[in-house]
Amino acid sequence: MTQSLAIKMVIRRLSVFYKSFQALHEVDMPVYEHHVTAIIGPSGCGKSTLLRSLNRMNDLVPGSRIKGEVLLDGEDIYDPGQDVVDVRRRVGMVFQRPNPFPMSIYDNVAFGPKLYGIKKQPVLDGIVEESLRAAALWDDVKDKLKQSGMALSGGQQQRLCIARAIAIQPEVLLMDEPASALDPIATLRIEELIAELKQRFTIVIVTHNMQQAARVSDYTAFLMMNDQRAGELAEFSETAILFTTPKDKRTEDYITGRFG
Ligand SMILES: Nc1ncnc2c1ncn2[C@@H]1O[C@H](COP(=O)(O)OP(=O)(O)OP(=O)(O)O)[C@@H](O)[C@H]1O
Ligand SMILES: [Mg+2]
Repeated sequence: MTQSLAIKMVIRRLSVFYKSFQALHEVDMPVYEHHVTAIIGPSGCGKSTLLRSLNRMNDLVPGSRIKGEVLLDGEDIYDPGQDVVDVRRRVGMVFQRPNPFPMSIYDNVAFGPKLYGIKKQPVLDGIVEESLRAAALWDDVKDKLKQSGMALSGGQQQRLCIARAIAIQPEVLLMDEPASALDPIATLRIEELIAELKQRFTIVIVTHNMQQAARVSDYTAFLMMNDQRAGELAEFSETAILFTTPKDKRTEDYITGRFG
C-alpha cells in the first residue's frame, strides 16, 4: 500500500433521484488520489448514476436531483458558486461505447484544448501527440492523423476517446464500463493503460466484470439495491480485501456468485 494516501474526492451522504424515484441512497466513500477505485454491483444498482454524479453529468438528465455532497479537493462540486464547465474539465469521462466525434483522429484529440482556447498549432500538435502516446495509440495512428476517428477498430476508438479525455488534462478520469464493448485483447490493453494512467490521474471505473475490478483497482465500492430499489453502498474496501475477506455478508454472497 502506498504510504501517503491523499484523498481526491469525498462522497458524502449522496442520494440521487430521478423525479420521485430514488436511485442512490446516502452513499459515503472516498476517492484516493492516484489510485483506481472500482464500482461494482448488480445491474440497476446505480453505478452509472454514482459515476455521473462525480462530474455533474447527471445534471443533464431532466428531473434528476441530488442530496448530499461531492467534494473535489475539499470543495463541493454542487456548491452554487461552482462553475460546472470547470468541474467537467477537472473530472473527465470515458463512456461504455467508444464515441469518437465524426472528425479526424487529430481533431478528436485537439477538440477539447481548442474549446479551452488553445490556438497555436505547435502547442496543439504537442498535446495531440502526448495524449495519443499516453493512451497507447500513437504508434497505431501517427501516420494517419488526418483519417477519420470512426475508421479505427473498437479498441482503438476507445483509446482515442481516452486520449480525447486526457488532452484537457483532467485530474480525475471517470470510466463507465470502458471495455465492455471490446474483445479480450482490446480489453487487456485498456486494463494495462489504466494501470499506467493512474500515475497521472485519479481513476474511478465502473465495471460489471469482477475479475476486471480485481485486476485493475486498488479500492472497490460494492453497491446493492435496498428494499426500495435504491442503490446503497454495501462495502468499500481495499480491493484485495473485498475479494478475499469481505466485511459484509452481502459482498461475500455477491462475489461468490450466490446473488446477482
Ligand atoms: N435518466 C434516467 N431517468 C430515470 N431513471 C433512471 C435514469 N437513469 C437511470 N435510472 C434508473 O436509476 C437506477 C440506476 O440506474 P444506473 O444506470 O445508474 O444503474 P447501473 O448500476 O449503472 O446499471 P447497469 O449495470 O445496467 O449499467 C435504475 O433503476 C435506472 O432505471
Ligand atoms: Mg451503468
